[in-house]
This record gives sequence, C-alpha cells and structure tokens, in this order.
Amino acid sequence: MIILENVTKSYTSSVVFDKFSLHVEHGEFLFVTGESGSGKSTLIKLLTKETDVTKGRILVDGKDLSKMKRREVPVYRRNLGIVFQDMKLLEDRTVFENLAFAREVIYGRRKDTSQRVASILPLLGLTRLHKRYPRQLSGGEKQKTVLARALMNDPAILLADVN
Ligand SMILES: Nc1ncnc2c1ncn2[C@@H]1O[C@H](COP(=O)(O)OP(=O)(O)OP(=O)(O)O)[C@@H](O)[C@H]1O
Ligand SMILES: [Mg+2]
Repeated sequence: MIILENVTKSYTSSVVFDKFSLHVEHGEFLFVTGESGSGKSTLIKLLTKETDVTKGRILVDGKDLSKMKRREVPVYRRNLGIVFQDMKLLEDRTVFENLAFAREVIYGRRKDTSQRVASILPLLGLTRLHKRYPRQLSGGEKQKTVLARALMNDPAILLADVN
C-alpha cells in the first residue's frame, strides 16, 4: 500500500532521510519513534505531499507521488486521515462543528453529516463534549477530537503525528 524506495529528503541545511526504504502493507499498523528532529513529521509531510522527496520515490497504492499532477493532489488526500502535530482545530467551532466541517469541505452540506458525527463521537468518548470549544478541552480531549476528525471520511490511510 505504501512503499518508500531509496528516499532521500534534504532541506537546505539538513539531510533528514538518506536512501530510506519502507513497505507498509494494507491493514498494517506502523509506529515510528525517534528523537525530536529525527524526521517523523517530515515522513508524514512526504506522504501527504506537503513536501516532495529530493531523490527516490514514494508509491501509495501504486501511484508515484512525485508524478502526481497538482490537480490530483486534493483527490489523493481524500484517502488520508491526518492527525497534525499542531492539531489545527478551528477555535471558533465546537467539537461537533469541527467534525462536521471535515466532511463538509469534501462533500458539501449533506443531511447525513450530523449522523456521521454522532456515530464517531462515542468511539472516542467525546459525546458529552460535543458542544465545547477547543479552548474548553484538555490536551488529551483535543487530541481525541483531532483523531475523530481524521476518521470522519473513512480514510484508507490514517496518519497520526502525535507526541
Ligand atoms: N521546512 C523546513 N526547512 C528546513 N528544515 C526543516 C524543515 N522542516 C523540518 N526541518 C528539519 O528537518 C528535521 C526533521 O524535522 P521533523 O519535523 O520531521 O522532526 P520530528 O521527528 O517530527 O521532530 P519532533 O519530534 O520534534 O516533532 C529537523 O532537523 C528540522 O529542523
Ligand atoms: Mg514532529
């Protein structure tokens, strides 16, 4: 499902990956650990195509991310559930609205959005918190909200950048 082949990634002043290869099969869970600055977020940014490899290639379901056209990127990202390290919750929207928004940006306003939110909330024990704003949540509750949001659109791949 995910294949990295001899991936080299360098920023102007540092080399993060030097000929790094990795296979992740369908249904597999992969945990990546490493020191601060070791490249965990960079790996996720490569997979979301927020940044590109310097050398080597990344295949997701057989598709080479370097060869993907700009207009194909949003379509590709619909298959991804992403938990960002900095969370990126909308501060002026409640937990419920944050989850609903994740679906609306893709599918527009639909009748089944509330139903979908209501089915995801209990999975993470968030039902009683659904009217709260992010500032009214603990760190862990925020993380759960971000995870719930990532699950809203049934992603084929879930990428979580957590501390
Ligand atoms: N846009 C950028 N430009 C230049 N260097 C960068 C950029 N983003 C990250 N780096 C550098 O690349 C290296 C890997 O960063 P990355 O964010 O992937 O680390 P990380 O493993 O996620 O760290 P943390 O555990 O602190 O989140 C670090 O040395 C960082 O300073
Ligand atoms: Mg990081």
